[in-house]
Amino acid sequence: MLEQIIFLVFVNFSYEQIKYDTGLTLVYDYIHDSFNCQNGYSKSAIIQFSGTFQNIPQVFLYHEKYDWMPAELQYTLSITTITTVSFTITTSCSKNRVYRNQLRWCALDDQRIEVLNNFDMVNPDDKTFSIKNPNAQFGFVTFTSIHYTGPIDFTLSITQITTNSVTVGITKIDGKFSNLKQIGYQVVVGVEEAFINLGLKSPTGAFSSDVLPIQINRWFVIPLQGLNYNNADNIRMQTNFTNTASTKQYNYASWNSIQTPNRHSQIWVAYQFTNSYKALECFSIRTSRKQIIDLSIVPKIYLELVSLNQIYTTVGNYNYLVNKSIMPLYMIIQSTCPNGKKIKADFNKCNSCSISKFYSFTYNCFNQMNYVGFFPKFKQAFQQYNQFKINLQASSVEIIQVLYDQQITEQTIVKLEIVDL
Ligand SMILES: *[C@@H]1O[C@H](CO)[C@@H](O)[C@H](O)[C@H]1NC(C)=O
Ligand SMILES: *[C@@H]1O[C@H](CO)[C@@H](O)[C@H](O)[C@H]1NC(C)=O
Repeated sequence: MLEQIIFLVFVNFSYEQIKYDTGLTLVYDYIHDSFNCQNGYSKSAIIQFSGTFQNIPQVFLYHEKYDWMPAELQYTLSITTITTVSFTITTSCSKNRVYRNQLRWCALDDQRIEVLNNFDMVNPDDKTFSIKNPNAQFGFVTFTSIHYTGPIDFTLSITQITTNSVTVGITKIDGKFSNLKQIGYQVVVGVEEAFINLGLKSPTGAFSSDVLPIQINRWFVIPLQGLNYNNADNIRMQTNFTNTASTKQYNYASWNSIQTPNRHSQIWVAYQFTNSYKALECFSIRTSRKQIIDLSIVPKIYLELVSLNQIYTTVGNYNYLVNKSIMPLYMIIQSTCPNGKKIKADFNKCNSCSISKFYSFTYNCFNQMNYVGFFPKFKQAFQQYNQFKINLQASSVEIIQVLYDQQITEQTIVKLEIVDL
């Protein structure tokens, strides 16, 4: 019995809670794990995280070393399952042989970054993806799989990014594009702080990077984005790193074969953030009460987002994205206050306070004071898009802010109700 208890305690301690993780997997390299990827061979491997995530993380990867055959090569690769303790990569080779794909992967439980997958896209073309986080206005593309039938020359890149979508374009070079039958990639988008992008490199021979100062709390990622391959010899590329305590440098080149001109980026990707996305806080509020002779001619509740030309007076649920150029944000909320009722209103004042979180008001209604107005002003620590869900009912209005921080949360910033006395 005592032994069992000790065992349980041990098991508990070995599952450390993690928020990010990274590794290099060699299981898709013939040298390391009898990986014989040809003639329809397929392999699924489970890669364990070093601890347990609280939520299912997002995972992206890039090729650190690869060795593929001419003339026609077809392989697929996808992340098929992600759990809180592991993820699964499945790859298969139907045409010719992949000798090696050494994959560097990064896993992150944070909504300031969003990973979108487009694995094994047959008939490659430009493609637009929906994004959830309106503040994810930056990003990069990382190659995952390919099918070619001859010489190829392509580059994948983000061609447009908006508050709700990202478009990935692929260059289409006459006489070469038709040899590209399938391409797979992931798009990683994130907030401004997420990436330090050192730019696209397009070496035509062996490449040596600059000596780069290490950025704390960031992974160094070198996603492949394009190849100019004459299809004469194997594509063999490998990355060797030279690290010191404060710097990183890498060489990217072939071995025992001609150099394949390629396009890859150098990006420092944050796995810890300093900017936290928090709800708008009301820093000033004015109120007014007055008499309206005929209450039936005014809207029961009136909400205006000032200087945005957004006015809500009709019952319904609405989504609205406040442009990041609007700061501070002014609102006008006016409510009828019929006899026998009272108005209760709360405005989010302080996200980090445990008491006095709100400016709270209660007004009893009577004939000489049957119309109440609130004129709040809101601010936040830095410019960002603010996503609202507005719920206007016959006798209430609520503004809920949707926040993409380490987790997605929803927080009420305005609530007004007409209630019985
Ligand atoms: C990487 O290191 C190996 C072993 O030292 C060497 O054979 C190879 O040429 C190096 N490749 C590059 C791109 O530096
Ligand atoms: C935000 O406002 C700027 C400046 O007026 C404008 O250029 C931009 O298109 C707006 N963004 C959105 C998403 O509406």
